[in-house]
Amino acid sequence: MEVPLRIRTLLVMLAGASLAVAQTANSQATPAGRAAGEKIFRSHCASCHGVAGAGGTGPNLTTGVFYHGNTDADLYKNISQGIEGTAMPDQFFNGVQIWQIVAYVRSLSATPVRTKLPGNAAHGAELFRAKGCSGCHLVKGEGGVRGPDLSIIGSQRSAAHLRESITDPGKNVSNAYWVAKVITKDGKSHSGFLLNQDTYAIQMLDFAEGLRTVNRSDFNDFGIDRSSIMPAYQDKLGASELDDLVAFLASLERSRFAQSGEKK
Ligand code: HEC
Ligand code: HEC
Repeated sequence: MEVPLRIRTLLVMLAGASLAVAQTANSQATPAGRAAGEKIFRSHCASCHGVAGAGGTGPNLTTGVFYHGNTDADLYKNISQGIEGTAMPDQFFNGVQIWQIVAYVRSLSATPVRTKLPGNAAHGAELFRAKGCSGCHLVKGEGGVRGPDLSIIGSQRSAAHLRESITDPGKNVSNAYWVAKVITKDGKSHSGFLLNQDTYAIQMLDFAEGLRTVNRSDFNDFGIDRSSIMPAYQDKLGASELDDLVAFLASLERSRFAQSGEKK
C-alpha cells in the first residue's frame, strides 16, 4: 500500500525526534556525577549486585551486556522503575540521581569482571538430572515445579550466589517459597507454598493436591516455615561436582534476542 507523503514525512520526523532523545548525552557522565552515582550504588544496589557491581543475588553489571536494554534511556527506566516480574526493585531517587547512577553503572563496563569458572558445564547438566535437581526445577521446559525455574538463572545471579544456593539453600529464601503447614479440624495436614492470605482464608499450592483454599475457621493449626524445601547439598556433592553444577547453571543465560538492541 502506498503511504501518503504527508504521513511518511511525519514518520521520518518522529523517528528523528526519538533518535534525538535517545542520543542526548547523559549530563551526569562526569567524574563528579559518577562519584555521586557510586555512593548511591554502594548504599542501594551493592546488596544485590555486589560492591564492585560484579553480581550477587542480582546479575553482574560489569560485562557491558544489559539484557533488558542497552541504551542510557533503557538503563534509566530499569533503574528508576525496576524490572517487572523480577527481583529488581524500583527506586525513589530524583532524575539527576538516577542519571548519576546510570553514569556509574556504565563506567563499570570499562573493567569487566569475568570470572573463569573451573567446572565442566556438560557434566553439570548430567549431574543436574542424576542428583535430583530436575525433580524440582525446570530448565528450558523440562523438570519439576517445586522450585524456581532455572532456565535463565545464569543471567540473573552471580556464580558465587549459585554456589551458595546449592550448599546452603536456607540462607536466602524468598517468601514465595515459604511453606505453609495447616492441620484442619478433621485432622488432615497439608503443606505447600503459601500464595495468599487474608482475614478469612489462606490460599496455598498444596504439594500433594495443587491449588487449595482453606478457611481459617476450618484450621486447628497453621504455621509458616521459612526454611527451604531444597536439601542442602554441602555434604552430598564432591568439590568438582559442585564446580560442574555451578558451571552448568551459569551457562543458562538469557537468549541474546532478549536484548532490546537486537529486538528493535
Ligand atoms: C533486591 C535486589 C536488587 C537490588 C537492591 C537492585 N537490583 Fe538491579 N537487579 C536485580 C536482579 C535480580 C536483576 C535481574 C533481573 C532479571 O533479569 O531477572 C537486576 C537487574 C538490573 C539491571 C538490568 C541488567 C540487564 O541485564 O539488563 C540493572 C541495570 C540493574 N539491576 C541496576 C541496579 C541498580 C543501579 C540498583 C540500585 C539503584 C539495583 N539494580 C538494585 C536485583 C536487584
Ligand atoms: C525438593 C525440591 C528441590 C530440589 C531437589 C532442589 N531444589 Fe533448588 N530450590 C528449591 C526451592 C524451593 C528453591 C527456592 C528457595 C531457596 O532459595 O532455597 C530452590 C532454589 C535454588 C536455587 C536458587 C535460585 C534463585 O532464584 O536464586 C538454585 C541455584 C538451585 N535451587 C539449584 C538446585 C540444584 C543445582 C539442585 C540439585 C543439586 C537443586 N536445586 C535441588 C527446590 C529444590
